[in-house]
Amino acid sequence: MNLDFSQIVPHIPFLLQGIGVTLQFVSAALVLGLILGVILSIFKIGRFRVLRWFADAYTSVFRGTPLILQLSIIYFGIPQFGFDISAYVAGVLAFGLNSAAYVSEIIRAGIQAVDKGQKEAAEALGIPYRPTMLRIILPQAFRNILPALFNEFINLTKESAIVSIIGVMDLMRRAQVLNAQIYRYFEALLFVGLIYYLLVMVLTIIGRLIERRLQRSD
Ligand code: ARG
Repeated sequence: MNLDFSQIVPHIPFLLQGIGVTLQFVSAALVLGLILGVILSIFKIGRFRVLRWFADAYTSVFRGTPLILQLSIIYFGIPQFGFDISAYVAGVLAFGLNSAAYVSEIIRAGIQAVDKGQKEAAEALGIPYRPTMLRIILPQAFRNILPALFNEFINLTKESAIVSIIGVMDLMRRAQVLNAQIYRYFEALLFVGLIYYLLVMVLTIIGRLIERRLQRSD
């Protein structure tokens, strides 16, 4: 066994720059996923059958096929139609579209988990649909939704390593580039693995704090 971490030391700044790339990439994908996810969840709980059907089909397809396949279709497939698409944009698009499927389910489930009695009570009091939704149902749903959304953030952070296959210079890709230069596979991968783990731990702690706060306001 010849572990030699000293060889990767000069390259640590190069690897660390991947943190920013990964976090920025994940944030962009999450924002896109949130926007589309909210729209899809409105379709899902709405009363238009076509929209409900569309949102369900969307979720089914994006959750039913591998993310790496969706990413490849967008990055390698779309240029066939004459559009140029950068790796970064393709990545954000693929992750955003994929995440929207998960986010829409999180929001739908969060809203439907609010006790039916709340809606019935509002109806009995003659409160119209909009204020019932905005002031009674959604604030309660928020408590189910926020922690789950944070979980999605964590999942995306880990899954984001897949964008390395199309050359986005994220943490994972940087480890691969370094591997090709100095052949210290184990050391570089372990180092990057540690960074991913720390990132996820920090996000987990923030998520717990938010959850605790939400419980306190109960
Ligand atoms: N790794 C799985 C896949 O390839 C899960 C993707 C998870 N996506 C998400 N937005 N949470 O499909």
